[in-house]
Amino acid sequence: MSPASESFTGPFVDKGLANVVVADSVMSFIDGEKGVLEYVGIDIDTLARNSTFEECCFLLWNQCLPNADELASFTKELQAAMAIPDGLMDMVKALPADTSPMHAVRTLVSAQAHFDTECDDGSPEANLRKALRLTARTPSLIANFDRHRKGLELIAPDPSKTVAGNFLSILNGKAPTEAMERGFDICLILHAEHGFNASTFASMATISTLSDLYSAATTAVGTLKGPLHGGANEAVMKMLNEIPGEEDVEPFIKARLAAKDRIMGFGHRVYKVYDPRATYLKTYAEDIAKDTGNDRLFRMSKKIEDIMFEAVGAKGIHPNVDFYSATTYHCLGLDLDLFTPIFAMARMPGWVGHCIEYLQDNKLMRPRCEYVGPHGVPYTDISDR
Ligand code: CMC
Repeated sequence: MSPASESFTGPFVDKGLANVVVADSVMSFIDGEKGVLEYVGIDIDTLARNSTFEECCFLLWNQCLPNADELASFTKELQAAMAIPDGLMDMVKALPADTSPMHAVRTLVSAQAHFDTECDDGSPEANLRKALRLTARTPSLIANFDRHRKGLELIAPDPSKTVAGNFLSILNGKAPTEAMERGFDICLILHAEHGFNASTFASMATISTLSDLYSAATTAVGTLKGPLHGGANEAVMKMLNEIPGEEDVEPFIKARLAAKDRIMGFGHRVYKVYDPRATYLKTYAEDIAKDTGNDRLFRMSKKIEDIMFEAVGAKGIHPNVDFYSATTYHCLGLDLDLFTPIFAMARMPGWVGHCIEYLQDNKLMRPRCEYVGPHGVPYTDISDR
């Protein structure tokens, strides 16, 4: 029964919570019919062109842009929070080198709680400090896990660098070019926040029990991992790698569609037109593909997009943020299995921001299920079964 029904009197089943509004938020606005995304009222394209990841964190957590002094002191705080306790570095080294980076991220986000004396302080001030630590430390932990699995020495974050600069410097053991750092920073901006998506909602369900922010962020990482959500960027790259050549794109995609398979990086629960993040990323992917000699990869992606438009565009299925992220990250020289961890570190401000916002007027998340099984079933003794 749905609320539209005349005899509607109460709870109804809404699979996937597609039409359920869970709470108010002032962090971001999405218009899925017009392809609009705003962080605190500012268009995502404008932010990608002009802002930084650090500034977007401030914006999302304070609902206003910082002035120059505020940005300088916020950035300083974020940089100071990057330092990784020795015990946490030891935990990175203790992870099996062959584990998947997303499993490592989940463990390392959770492990940060052991090194935070404020872990169970649920005050807004303490939560904001923890939000800062989670956002500052997680990228360095991911990059250091990558070094660990490759048998390289771990590197402490440099408190004079940006989040993007630190991540790339630790990952590659050398400072990125300015263009690479800026390109990566834009990717972080585009992924920072997106309403009540599955991972954010999962983190909010955790915090609604008055658990702690580390537990909420850990829940979010586990939820992001799936290929219907953040895992899609990795799945897109795997698909591109599977297609032998440009001439094979059409038969490959058509065969997949005929088999009723999903094409990763397409479709969105909310956007029924082009995802505005994908609009930006497509242009960026084209530029960086040219600069790095990966034109073929971009051309293949574009061909997939054209075939998908013809086949399912009318159903409102278009590229989402994950589709051109794959080409972009590949061109930035990032390993395929780091794509989803990068999504995780970028989405951290959104996750923790929503948890803190929800706690201002908390109500335990506790939906119901519609029981469709039998009633009054007799208990049969085990000897008679
Ligand atoms: N390829 C082919 N057909 C698709 C796709 C796709 N990627 N996505 C949806 N459809 C079809 C689906 O088969 C169905 O067709 P029909 O009505 O004929 O049965 C119709 O579109 C509606 O699909 P749905 O599953 O009811 O739609 P949804 O809102 O539940 O799905 C989605 C949203 C993201 C799960 C889905 O589009 C999908 O599986 N996409 C591929 C995975 C992906 O790229 N995920 C990343 C999402 S964006 C980043 C993020 O938030 O993580």
